[in-house]
Amino acid sequence: MAGDWPQNSGKTSRPVPGGLDTSVPHIARVYDYWLGGKDNSAADREAAEQVIAAYPGILRDVRAQRAFLANAVRYLAGVVGIRQFLDIGTGIPTASNTHEVAQGEAPECRVVYVDNDPMVLAHARALLVGTTAPTAYVDADLRDTGTVLAEAARLLDFTKPVAVMLISVLHLIPDEDGPHARCRRAATQCPPASCASA
Ligand SMILES: C[S@@+](CC[C@H](N)C(=O)[O-])C[C@H]1O[C@@H](n2cnc3c(N)ncnc32)[C@H](O)[C@@H]1O
Repeated sequence: MAGDWPQNSGKTSRPVPGGLDTSVPHIARVYDYWLGGKDNSAADREAAEQVIAAYPGILRDVRAQRAFLANAVRYLAGVVGIRQFLDIGTGIPTASNTHEVAQGEAPECRVVYVDNDPMVLAHARALLVGTTAPTAYVDADLRDTGTVLAEAARLLDFTKPVAVMLISVLHLIPDEDGPHARCRRAATQCPPASCASA
């Protein structure tokens, strides 16, 4: 499935070496376009429009999926009582970001974002400037599970429940890169009463 997605020209979701290359469509920015954002290039818009032409329902689907993310975080923080979130495959910040929803329910919620796209990194850093709530951003590839968990552990306490959010990202990981095994490894690092949402 990953090979069919307008990510990079290669078969993996690794960003272009050296950082940002807006001449190549990237899913973070394509997704931003579908959500009505402005942080996308001509290449992203062209790829996004090709998908819309082939499947117009994509616009409804990405909005529903974004609403699911917010609803899941609201439920986990407000009803289940989770206070730590690891949001992997963050995307370019838009409305109702994970830390805003979680900390809206309980200000002490700790949130770590993980993404491997330079534009997401730039926006996330800007979003978090001046934020006093416990929120951090990790620039890492989710396939590098060891780095993701080690960096997340700088803010999150893995002896207490963690909600691992993998919303709309696992389909971008090719089968040969073992998405299931990587999820299992992340799950084994989280104590009982932790949750995963994908
Ligand atoms: C479709 S967006 C989903 C955004 C967000 N989770 C949401 O539900 O609104 C997928 C995000 O995953 C990121 N991503 C793709 N492959 C990744 C990888 N191997 N490691 C980390 N992030 C990745 C992309 O940069 C993009 O921001």
